[in-house]
Amino acid sequence: MTDKRTKIIQAEIGDDPAYGAVNPPLYLSSTYRFKSIDEKGPFDYGRTANPNRHGLGRAVAELEGGAHGVVTATGMAAIDLVTNLFKADELILAPHDCYGGTHRLLTHRAEQGRLRVIFVDQTDATALADAMAEKPSLVMVETPSNPLMRLVDIAAICKAAKAVGALVAVDNTFLSPARQLPLELGADFSIHSTTKYLNGHSDVVGGVIVAKTDEHGERLAWWANCTGVTGSPFDSYQTLRGMRTLFARMDAQEANAMTIAKFLHKHKKVERVYYPGLKSDVGYKLAKKQQSGPGAMLSFEVKGGFEQTKSVIEALTLFQMAPSLGGTESLVCFPTTMTHGGMASEAREIAGIRDTLLRISVGLEASDDLIADLSAALALI
Ligand SMILES: Cc1ncc(COP(=O)(O)O)c(C=O)c1O
Repeated sequence: MTDKRTKIIQAEIGDDPAYGAVNPPLYLSSTYRFKSIDEKGPFDYGRTANPNRHGLGRAVAELEGGAHGVVTATGMAAIDLVTNLFKADELILAPHDCYGGTHRLLTHRAEQGRLRVIFVDQTDATALADAMAEKPSLVMVETPSNPLMRLVDIAAICKAAKAVGALVAVDNTFLSPARQLPLELGADFSIHSTTKYLNGHSDVVGGVIVAKTDEHGERLAWWANCTGVTGSPFDSYQTLRGMRTLFARMDAQEANAMTIAKFLHKHKKVERVYYPGLKSDVGYKLAKKQQSGPGAMLSFEVKGGFEQTKSVIEALTLFQMAPSLGGTESLVCFPTTMTHGGMASEAREIAGIRDTLLRISVGLEASDDLIADLSAALALI
């Protein structure tokens, strides 16, 4: 059984030792009995390990092709967790246009003196080479980037990072293992906000970090227990349940995204569409090389200014105006005040996030209905 579509459907199925339940039961107990004074069972205390969390970590690791998956309470906790592997004077190289929460975390940790960070435009070969020359210990990558869908070459960055002795962590939230496998491209860690495509139903906040090696996986699990950032049993149960339909959801949502991207691309009230599935997109070729599909996220610039953009987003009825992404329902967000509100305005400007930009997470609705909604909203300006 090698196909990942089969593996995720079968993950943890039929393994219940107590009653033979086909689906994995939910284990809420915070503590587990020891067999004798010096012999514990496979689980002892819920912060350290839990059967549902364990099963989810194993399933994601299997999809990503890693050795170990450490499940955390949120995606931010997973990003913070990897920084624990480094000393305060070690350097982290991060993308200048990473998720606003990641930018905020690294900026404030650096201000506290708990790490050193440089933010770099990783699509700029000279800037990237200069930053690598500073000998970072960790290179963080986010591709496609949030919200501009910029792609960077994971294999090339991993090669350059290895040459200076750096580890590489890729935030794979936007594509999921159904479309991109960073560990196969040379990365050491693949990180997710499971809040998004992995759970897929916008009803859990969670995270996971998959390590390529057992050694890194064990160190991350140690830190997760030490700092207490592990995910809850219920969230893990829900996330594994959601993950079973990951491939089917991604196939259908991606098809909808392609239809919408083509519609927006031709629309006269749209300045520009950012979607690596479009042949005109700067990331098209790279997407073909390192992704197995363009995914279901896109963004676009409305012609005009902030007022026109506001009127479009407020006129949409099927697209819920909300941050987050990757659920079955379509969402639209205004990155300036929503996903990237936590970033300083100068940093947003450098990253190219303007007041005419809207980001869409394409859901599973009928594409004709989504197009009709967008068409009516754009007709107002
Ligand atoms: C790319 C990316 N990484 C990380 C996160 C943080 O995840 P969470 O909100 O689950 O903490 C987000 C949240 O939107 C995200 O979009």
